[in-house]
Amino acid sequence: MQRLADKTVVVTGAARGIGQAIAEVAAREGAAVALFDLDAVALAETAGELAATGARVFALPVDVTDEGAVADGMSQVVRAFGRIDVLVNNAGRNVYADPVAMTSAEWDGVFDVDLKAAFLCAKHVLAGMKERGGGSIVNIASLHAKLTCAGMYPYAAAKSGLVGLTRSLALEVAPFGVRVNAVSPGYIRTALVDEYLAGHADPDAEREVLRAQPLGRIGTPHEVAETVCFLASDAASYVTGADWAVDGGLGVRFA
Ligand SMILES: NC(=O)c1ccc[n+]([C@@H]2O[C@H](COP(=O)([O-])OP(=O)(O)OC[C@H]3O[C@@H](n4cnc5c(N)ncnc54)[C@H](O)[C@@H]3O)[C@@H](O)[C@H]2O)c1
Repeated sequence: MQRLADKTVVVTGAARGIGQAIAEVAAREGAAVALFDLDAVALAETAGELAATGARVFALPVDVTDEGAVADGMSQVVRAFGRIDVLVNNAGRNVYADPVAMTSAEWDGVFDVDLKAAFLCAKHVLAGMKERGGGSIVNIASLHAKLTCAGMYPYAAAKSGLVGLTRSLALEVAPFGVRVNAVSPGYIRTALVDEYLAGHADPDAEREVLRAQPLGRIGTPHEVAETVCFLASDAASYVTGADWAVDGGLGVRFA
């Protein structure tokens, strides 16, 4: 049985990495998928590959920090597929700022993508969800919401904010039958992690990262996507306000 049959799922940051995997798993589970991303070229390629599998796909270059573009994008999805049942706020970026040198504009740039965009996207799907009395929002947070490391200032603040937003929004919309959850990945093999490891001062950073992994390996985007699609589906009908770790056990490790 397909868990997302007849559902419309919007995935932000869907051109590559975890977002692309979420779109693939949602389509496999029967959903019509709408893909938003800044990178129009990669987005077209990803959408083409998905469509070739027979999936119902709608791809739109949208900057999720731009409220006008988000509102227009959500309206276009509703026109294409009739409604939006699931929103996955996945678009995000890393940050490696110095707490003194960081400018106010750089701060805003990070929080606009990693936190405010989730508010904007939710705002423009919730009217329909509340009206129909159902829907599911999944926010891709991070292990950094709980535990962090030096050199990634202030990523942990933005992702902690996203988990707080998840709790707060879950309570606001629960009376309307809408569920809101977070998924917090640990190390997942994507361009974001490759960039982190490449920029690390320690050339053995990857070996150190692997040494700390209880399961002995870095996760895959599809391993995150499976949990996201479970939470998005009716199989998780009593789960709301939660933050699900997909980190191979790294977040429970003390030593
Ligand atoms: N990879 C990991 O190990 C890891 C761990 C924890 C959390 N996360 C989170 O998972 C999410 C996806 O990460 P990833 O590793 O797949 O990253 P990625 O960089 O491979 O993909 C992110 C996608 O988001 C898009 N994007 C960025 N800003 C955007 C904007 N303003 N509007 C629309 N699209 C935008 C990018 O173009 C890109 O396609 C992020 O929120 C990230 O913080 C990743």
